[in-house]
Amino acid sequence: MSYFLHNKVRFGFIIDKNSFIRVSLSSTAIGLTGVDMGKSVLVVNGPNLNMLGTREPEIYGKLTLADIQAACEERAKVRGLELAFMQSNHEGELVSAIQEALGTHDGIIINAAAYTHTSVAIHDALKAVGLPTVEIHISNTHAREEFRHHSFIAPIAKGIICGFGIDSYLLAIDALDNIFQQRN
Ligand code: DQA
Repeated sequence: MSYFLHNKVRFGFIIDKNSFIRVSLSSTAIGLTGVDMGKSVLVVNGPNLNMLGTREPEIYGKLTLADIQAACEERAKVRGLELAFMQSNHEGELVSAIQEALGTHDGIIINAAAYTHTSVAIHDALKAVGLPTVEIHISNTHAREEFRHHSFIAPIAKGIICGFGIDSYLLAIDALDNIFQQRN
């Protein structure tokens, strides 16, 4: 829970001609709110991430995407955030999900998987909606093949988290929540 005091509280001291002191208090408003109540995050997952658990476990670990979703939901709950989680192997579906986030969600976490390195369409969609976005990867893409070093998402992302396994997702939720709080 957090408390806020509107910054409209003004005290005035006026000494008038007859030496009376008048004290005025204007616009006092004290509110009580839950942290980031109503803020909603969309987690977008790209191609082949539905195969986590069996896909190259030496790189991506043994957790499934369902395990990651459950951990994200838990972290979002602790942070007082709503969370939606989606995965698609199709670029157009990812673009549509990003477009539909406008007016529905307040921020985006995206592991675009291989489309990170190829998709101008996803770059354009994220730019078009303009929501604060965190790019994430399970593996450290910069310690891998050169074709994974370039990201079309990086230029529009608030920040990038990669190489921390499932923690990349959880750190991104924390990072977005911090961004939301700074805006309040
Ligand atoms: C990935 C890294 C990408 O290079 C790769 O194509 C993926 C997963 C990751 O989470 O480490 O599919 O985004």
